Amino acid sequence: MSGIKILGTGKYVPEKIITNDDWAKLVETSDEWIVQRTGMKERHFAADDETTTSMGAAAVKLAIEDAGIDPQEVGALIVATVSADNYSPSDACLIQRDLGLRDNMIAFDISAGCSGFVFGLETMRGLLMSGGFKYGVLVASEILSRKMDKTDRSTCVLFGDGAAAAVISLDDNSEYYSCIGVHGDDELIKVPVPNGPIYMDGQATYKFAVSSVPKLINDVMEKAGVSPDDIDMFLLHQANLRIIEAVQKRLKQPDEKFFININKYGNTSAASVALAMDEAKKEGKLKPGMKVLLAGFGAGKTYGAIIFEW
Ligand code: ACO
Repeated sequence: MSGIKILGTGKYVPEKIITNDDWAKLVETSDEWIVQRTGMKERHFAADDETTTSMGAAAVKLAIEDAGIDPQEVGALIVATVSADNYSPSDACLIQRDLGLRDNMIAFDISAGCSGFVFGLETMRGLLMSGGFKYGVLVASEILSRKMDKTDRSTCVLFGDGAAAAVISLDDNSEYYSCIGVHGDDELIKVPVPNGPIYMDGQATYKFAVSSVPKLINDVMEKAGVSPDDIDMFLLHQANLRIIEAVQKRLKQPDEKFFININKYGNTSAASVALAMDEAKKEGKLKPGMKVLLAGFGAGKTYGAIIFEW
Protein backbone atom coordinates (compact mmCIF):
# COMPACT_ATOMS: atom_id res chain seq x y z
CA MET A 1 0.00 0.00 0.00
CA SER A 2 1.58 3.26 -1.09
CA GLY A 3 1.82 5.62 1.87
CA ILE A 4 1.59 9.36 2.18
CA LYS A 5 3.92 12.02 3.47
CA ILE A 6 2.66 15.09 5.31
CA LEU A 7 5.17 17.67 4.11
CA GLY A 8 3.83 20.65 5.99
CA THR A 9 0.90 21.84 8.10
CA GLY A 10 -0.66 25.15 9.07
CA LYS A 11 -3.57 26.44 11.10
CA TYR A 12 -5.68 29.53 11.50
CA VAL A 13 -7.88 30.16 14.51
CA PRO A 14 -9.83 33.38 14.94
CA GLU A 15 -8.61 35.74 17.65
CA LYS A 16 -11.85 35.98 19.63
CA ILE A 17 -12.00 33.52 22.54
CA ILE A 18 -15.27 32.53 24.21
CA THR A 19 -14.77 30.95 27.62
CA ASN A 20 -17.20 28.72 29.49
CA ASP A 21 -17.81 31.65 31.84
CA ASP A 22 -18.76 33.80 28.83
CA TRP A 23 -21.40 31.19 27.90
CA ALA A 24 -22.62 31.07 31.50
CA LYS A 25 -23.59 34.75 31.16
CA LEU A 26 -25.79 33.94 28.15
CA VAL A 27 -27.37 30.54 28.89
CA GLU A 28 -28.02 28.50 32.03
CA THR A 29 -24.74 26.62 32.23
CA SER A 30 -21.48 26.66 34.18
CA ASP A 31 -17.76 26.18 33.67
CA GLU A 32 -17.99 23.15 35.96
CA TRP A 33 -20.76 21.45 33.90
CA ILE A 34 -18.99 22.01 30.57
CA VAL A 35 -15.55 20.91 31.84
CA GLN A 36 -16.91 17.83 33.59
CA ARG A 37 -19.04 16.65 30.65
CA THR A 38 -16.75 17.60 27.77
CA GLY A 39 -13.26 18.75 28.83
CA MET A 40 -13.83 22.06 26.99
CA LYS A 41 -12.63 25.33 28.58
CA GLU A 42 -12.83 27.77 25.67
CA ARG A 43 -13.36 27.98 21.93
CA HIS A 44 -12.66 30.57 19.20
CA PHE A 45 -15.36 32.45 17.26
CA ALA A 46 -14.80 34.06 13.87
CA ALA A 47 -15.13 37.84 13.48
CA ASP A 48 -17.84 39.20 11.14
CA ASP A 49 -15.36 39.70 8.29
CA GLU A 50 -13.90 36.18 8.51
CA THR A 51 -15.16 33.34 6.32
CA THR A 52 -14.37 29.65 5.99
CA THR A 53 -12.62 30.63 2.74
CA SER A 54 -10.43 33.30 4.39
CA MET A 55 -9.56 31.05 7.34
CA GLY A 56 -8.91 28.08 5.05
CA ALA A 57 -6.70 30.21 2.77
CA ALA A 58 -4.63 31.40 5.75
CA ALA A 59 -4.09 27.80 6.89
CA VAL A 60 -3.21 26.62 3.35
CA LYS A 61 -0.67 29.43 2.91
CA LEU A 62 1.07 28.49 6.17
CA ALA A 63 1.04 24.77 5.30
CA ILE A 64 2.64 25.44 1.90
CA GLU A 65 5.29 27.65 3.55
CA ASP A 66 5.91 24.96 6.18
CA ALA A 67 6.35 22.33 3.44
CA GLY A 68 8.73 24.61 1.54
CA ILE A 69 7.26 23.61 -1.82
CA ASP A 70 6.49 25.68 -4.90
CA PRO A 71 2.75 26.54 -4.62
CA GLN A 72 2.44 26.11 -8.39
CA GLU A 73 3.13 22.39 -7.98
CA VAL A 74 -0.08 21.88 -5.98
CA GLY A 75 -2.39 19.92 -8.28
CA ALA A 76 -5.39 19.36 -5.99
CA LEU A 77 -7.07 21.31 -3.23
CA ILE A 78 -9.77 19.73 -1.08
CA VAL A 79 -11.69 21.65 1.59
CA ALA A 80 -13.50 19.60 4.24
CA THR A 81 -16.31 21.63 5.80
CA VAL A 82 -19.95 21.60 6.92
CA SER A 83 -20.04 25.39 6.98
CA ALA A 84 -18.84 26.46 3.51
CA ASP A 85 -19.46 30.08 2.55
CA ASN A 86 -21.63 29.16 -0.46
CA TYR A 87 -23.35 26.13 -1.93
CA SER A 88 -21.42 27.16 -4.99
CA PRO A 89 -18.72 28.21 -5.76
CA SER A 90 -16.88 25.94 -3.36
CA ASP A 91 -14.46 27.32 -0.77
CA ALA A 92 -11.78 25.38 -2.65
CA CYS A 93 -12.33 27.42 -5.84
CA LEU A 94 -12.13 30.67 -3.89
CA ILE A 95 -8.97 29.63 -2.04
CA GLN A 96 -7.39 28.74 -5.40
CA ARG A 97 -8.24 32.26 -6.60
CA ASP A 98 -7.22 34.08 -3.42
CA LEU A 99 -3.85 32.34 -3.15
CA GLY A 100 -3.15 32.51 -6.90
CA LEU A 101 -2.73 28.74 -7.17
CA ARG A 102 -2.43 27.28 -10.66
CA ASP A 103 -5.51 26.95 -12.90
CA ASN A 104 -5.05 23.35 -14.00
CA MET A 105 -5.94 21.82 -10.68
CA ILE A 106 -8.75 19.86 -9.07
CA ALA A 107 -10.50 21.91 -6.39
CA PHE A 108 -13.65 20.97 -4.49
CA ASP A 109 -15.29 20.81 -1.04
CA ILE A 110 -16.42 17.71 0.80
CA SER A 111 -19.03 17.43 3.54
CA ALA A 112 -18.55 14.47 5.87
CA GLY A 113 -19.20 16.09 9.27
CA CYS A 114 -16.47 15.58 11.81
CA SER A 115 -14.99 12.78 9.65
CA GLY A 116 -14.26 15.34 6.93
CA PHE A 117 -10.49 15.49 7.33
CA VAL A 118 -10.19 11.68 7.34
CA PHE A 119 -12.47 11.38 4.28
CA GLY A 120 -10.42 14.15 2.63
CA LEU A 121 -7.11 12.42 3.27
CA GLU A 122 -8.38 9.17 1.77
CA THR A 123 -9.70 11.08 -1.26
CA MET A 124 -6.49 13.06 -1.70
CA ARG A 125 -4.38 9.90 -1.63
CA GLY A 126 -6.58 8.43 -4.37
CA LEU A 127 -6.15 11.57 -6.48
CA LEU A 128 -2.37 11.53 -5.98
CA MET A 129 -2.27 7.87 -6.99
CA SER A 130 -4.12 8.67 -10.20
CA GLY A 131 -0.98 10.61 -11.16
CA GLY A 132 -0.42 13.87 -12.95
CA PHE A 133 0.63 16.02 -10.02
CA LYS A 134 3.05 15.93 -7.12
CA TYR A 135 1.37 17.69 -4.20
CA GLY A 136 -2.15 17.96 -2.84
CA VAL A 137 -3.42 20.28 -0.15
CA LEU A 138 -6.19 19.27 2.23
CA VAL A 139 -7.71 21.92 4.47
CA ALA A 140 -10.59 21.75 6.94
CA SER A 141 -12.28 25.02 7.79
CA GLU A 142 -15.35 25.58 9.96
CA ILE A 143 -17.35 28.51 11.29
CA LEU A 144 -19.88 26.70 13.46
CA SER A 145 -20.60 29.79 15.56
CA ARG A 146 -22.83 30.96 12.68
CA LYS A 147 -24.73 27.67 12.53
CA MET A 148 -25.78 27.39 16.16
CA ASP A 149 -28.83 28.36 18.19
CA LYS A 150 -27.15 30.56 20.80
CA THR A 151 -30.03 29.94 23.23
CA ASP A 152 -29.77 26.12 23.09
CA ARG A 153 -27.34 25.28 25.89
CA SER A 154 -27.24 21.61 24.94
CA THR A 155 -25.43 22.38 21.66
CA CYS A 156 -24.10 25.95 21.60
CA VAL A 157 -21.41 25.46 24.25
CA LEU A 158 -19.91 22.52 22.37
CA PHE A 159 -18.76 24.01 19.07
CA GLY A 160 -16.02 26.38 17.89
CA ASP A 161 -14.38 27.79 14.76
CA GLY A 162 -11.00 27.08 13.18
CA ALA A 163 -9.07 25.85 10.17
CA ALA A 164 -6.02 23.67 9.55
CA ALA A 165 -4.29 22.35 6.44
CA ALA A 166 -1.77 19.74 5.34
CA VAL A 167 0.41 19.44 2.20
CA ILE A 168 0.44 15.82 1.08
CA SER A 169 2.50 13.74 -1.32
CA LEU A 170 2.75 10.01 -1.95
CA ASP A 171 5.53 8.02 -0.29
CA ASP A 172 6.17 4.57 -1.72
CA ASN A 173 8.39 3.66 1.21
CA SER A 174 5.76 3.98 3.91
CA GLU A 175 2.54 2.16 4.78
CA TYR A 176 -1.06 3.34 4.76
CA TYR A 177 -4.23 1.58 5.91
CA SER A 178 -7.76 2.92 6.21
CA CYS A 179 -11.28 1.98 7.27
CA ILE A 180 -13.86 4.47 6.09
CA GLY A 181 -17.64 4.26 6.08
CA VAL A 182 -21.07 5.65 6.71
CA HIS A 183 -24.34 4.43 8.27
CA GLY A 184 -26.39 7.13 6.48
CA ASP A 185 -28.38 9.05 9.09
CA ASP A 186 -29.99 12.46 9.64
CA GLU A 187 -31.34 11.96 13.14
CA LEU A 188 -28.22 12.11 15.33
CA ILE A 189 -26.67 15.33 14.06
CA LYS A 190 -27.91 17.75 11.46
CA VAL A 191 -26.83 21.15 10.17
CA PRO A 192 -29.88 22.13 8.08
CA VAL A 193 -29.64 24.57 5.17
CA PRO A 194 -29.23 27.49 4.93
CA ASN A 195 -27.91 28.38 8.40
CA GLY A 196 -28.62 25.56 10.82
CA PRO A 197 -29.05 25.64 13.69
CA ILE A 198 -27.01 22.54 14.54
CA TYR A 199 -29.23 19.84 15.95
CA MET A 200 -27.61 17.04 17.92
CA ASP A 201 -28.99 14.19 19.98
CA GLY A 202 -26.04 14.33 22.40
CA GLN A 203 -26.65 11.06 24.21
CA ALA A 204 -27.28 9.03 21.04
CA THR A 205 -24.17 10.57 19.44
CA TYR A 206 -22.17 9.73 22.55
CA LYS A 207 -23.35 6.10 22.40
CA PHE A 208 -22.55 5.92 18.66
CA ALA A 209 -19.06 7.26 19.37
CA VAL A 210 -18.14 5.02 22.29
CA SER A 211 -19.48 1.91 20.56
CA SER A 212 -18.15 2.56 17.05
CA VAL A 213 -14.82 4.37 17.53
CA PRO A 214 -12.99 1.60 19.45
CA LYS A 215 -14.26 -0.96 16.89
CA LEU A 216 -13.16 1.29 14.04
CA ILE A 217 -9.70 1.66 15.57
CA ASN A 218 -9.42 -2.09 16.12
CA ASP A 219 -10.51 -2.73 12.51
CA VAL A 220 -7.86 -0.44 11.03
CA MET A 221 -5.17 -1.85 13.36
CA GLU A 222 -6.15 -5.37 12.32
CA LYS A 223 -5.87 -4.37 8.66
CA ALA A 224 -2.41 -2.93 9.32
CA GLY A 225 -1.37 -5.97 11.37
CA VAL A 226 -0.48 -3.84 14.40
CA SER A 227 -1.50 -3.65 18.06
CA PRO A 228 -2.23 -0.47 20.07
CA ASP A 229 1.31 -0.68 21.45
CA ASP A 230 2.66 -0.20 17.89
CA ILE A 231 0.84 3.13 17.42
CA ASP A 232 2.93 6.12 18.47
CA MET A 233 0.27 8.85 18.31
CA PHE A 234 -3.54 8.85 18.24
CA LEU A 235 -5.04 11.99 16.69
CA LEU A 236 -8.75 11.56 17.41
CA HIS A 237 -11.69 13.81 16.65
CA GLN A 238 -12.03 16.20 19.59
CA ALA A 239 -15.78 15.97 20.31
CA ASN A 240 -15.65 15.14 23.97
CA LEU A 241 -12.71 14.38 26.27
CA ARG A 242 -14.75 11.57 27.87
CA ILE A 243 -15.05 9.82 24.49
CA ILE A 244 -11.27 10.03 23.96
CA GLU A 245 -10.65 8.77 27.51
CA ALA A 246 -13.04 5.85 26.97
CA VAL A 247 -11.12 4.87 23.81
CA GLN A 248 -7.77 5.26 25.62
CA LYS A 249 -8.97 3.03 28.47
CA ARG A 250 -10.06 0.28 26.08
CA LEU A 251 -6.74 0.42 24.24
CA LYS A 252 -4.77 0.54 27.52
CA GLN A 253 -2.39 3.20 26.23
CA PRO A 254 -0.65 6.07 28.10
CA ASP A 255 -1.81 9.71 28.09
CA GLU A 256 1.11 10.95 26.00
CA LYS A 257 -0.08 8.95 22.97
CA PHE A 258 -3.38 10.89 22.80
CA PHE A 259 -3.12 14.45 21.57
CA ILE A 260 -5.70 16.68 23.29
CA ASN A 261 -6.64 20.26 22.41
CA ILE A 262 -10.41 20.16 22.96
CA ASN A 263 -9.88 22.37 26.03
CA LYS A 264 -8.81 25.25 23.72
CA TYR A 265 -11.08 24.82 20.69
CA GLY A 266 -14.19 22.80 21.57
CA ASN A 267 -15.59 20.70 18.73
CA THR A 268 -14.52 22.25 15.41
CA SER A 269 -16.05 19.42 13.32
CA ALA A 270 -13.90 18.65 10.24
CA ALA A 271 -11.13 20.98 11.46
CA SER A 272 -10.64 19.09 14.71
CA VAL A 273 -8.33 16.26 13.53
CA ALA A 274 -6.49 18.76 11.30
CA LEU A 275 -5.88 21.17 14.20
CA ALA A 276 -4.66 18.27 16.34
CA MET A 277 -2.24 17.21 13.59
CA ASP A 278 -0.83 20.71 13.13
CA GLU A 279 -0.37 21.29 16.86
CA ALA A 280 1.14 17.85 17.52
CA LYS A 281 3.64 18.53 14.70
CA LYS A 282 4.51 22.03 15.91
CA GLU A 283 4.96 20.74 19.47
CA GLY A 284 7.50 18.20 18.17
CA LYS A 285 5.32 15.23 19.08
CA LEU A 286 5.42 13.71 15.59
CA LYS A 287 8.78 12.33 14.48
CA PRO A 288 9.76 10.67 11.18
CA GLY A 289 8.79 6.99 11.04
CA MET A 290 6.18 7.24 13.82
CA LYS A 291 2.93 5.34 13.26
CA VAL A 292 0.05 7.80 13.50
CA LEU A 293 -3.61 6.85 13.79
CA LEU A 294 -6.28 9.39 12.80
CA ALA A 295 -9.95 8.76 13.60
CA GLY A 296 -13.11 10.76 13.11
CA PHE A 297 -16.85 10.25 13.42
CA GLY A 298 -19.77 12.57 12.95
CA ALA A 299 -22.81 13.82 11.10
CA GLY A 300 -24.35 11.37 8.64
CA LYS A 301 -22.94 8.71 10.98
CA THR A 302 -19.74 8.91 9.00
CA TYR A 303 -16.64 7.31 10.43
CA GLY A 304 -13.07 6.86 9.35
CA ALA A 305 -9.66 5.84 10.64
CA ILE A 306 -6.27 5.90 8.95
CA ILE A 307 -2.89 4.54 10.02
CA PHE A 308 0.10 6.05 8.25
CA GLU A 309 3.75 6.77 8.93
CA TRP A 310 4.85 10.30 9.77
N1 ACO B 1 -25.15 23.31 30.90
C1 ACO B 1 -25.81 22.79 31.95
N2 ACO B 1 -26.71 21.80 31.83
C2 ACO B 1 -26.91 21.32 30.61
C3 ACO B 1 -26.24 21.81 29.46
C4 ACO B 1 -25.33 22.86 29.64
N3 ACO B 1 -24.64 23.41 28.63
N4 ACO B 1 -26.67 21.12 28.38
C5 ACO B 1 -27.55 20.21 28.81
N5 ACO B 1 -27.70 20.32 30.15
C6 ACO B 1 -28.55 19.55 31.05
C7 ACO B 1 -29.65 18.81 30.34
O1 ACO B 1 -30.77 19.65 30.15
C8 ACO B 1 -29.93 17.68 31.29
O2 ACO B 1 -30.75 18.17 32.33
P1 ACO B 1 -31.95 17.27 32.92
O3 ACO B 1 -31.26 16.06 33.48
O4 ACO B 1 -32.57 18.16 33.93
O5 ACO B 1 -32.82 16.95 31.75
C9 ACO B 1 -28.57 17.36 31.89
O6 ACO B 1 -27.75 18.52 31.66
C10 ACO B 1 -27.89 16.16 31.28
O7 ACO B 1 -27.96 16.27 29.86
P2 ACO B 1 -27.40 15.16 28.92
O8 ACO B 1 -27.70 15.50 27.51
O9 ACO B 1 -27.82 13.83 29.46
O10 ACO B 1 -25.83 15.32 29.18
P3 ACO B 1 -24.72 14.32 28.77
O11 ACO B 1 -24.04 13.82 29.95
O12 ACO B 1 -25.19 13.35 27.73
O13 ACO B 1 -23.67 15.31 28.04
C11 ACO B 1 -23.00 15.96 25.80
C12 ACO B 1 -24.07 16.02 26.89
C13 ACO B 1 -21.76 16.62 26.34
C14 ACO B 1 -23.49 16.69 24.57
C15 ACO B 1 -22.69 14.49 25.46
O14 ACO B 1 -23.90 13.80 25.21
C16 ACO B 1 -21.79 14.34 24.26
O15 ACO B 1 -20.62 14.68 24.29
N6 ACO B 1 -22.29 13.76 23.15
C17 ACO B 1 -21.47 13.50 21.98
C18 ACO B 1 -21.27 14.72 21.16
C19 ACO B 1 -20.40 14.39 19.94
O16 ACO B 1 -19.59 13.47 20.02
N7 ACO B 1 -20.53 15.08 18.85
C20 ACO B 1 -19.66 14.76 17.73
C21 ACO B 1 -20.22 14.85 16.50
S1 ACO B 1 -20.65 16.50 16.12
C22 ACO B 1 -20.57 16.67 14.43
O17 ACO B 1 -20.32 15.76 13.71
C23 ACO B 1 -20.89 18.06 13.86
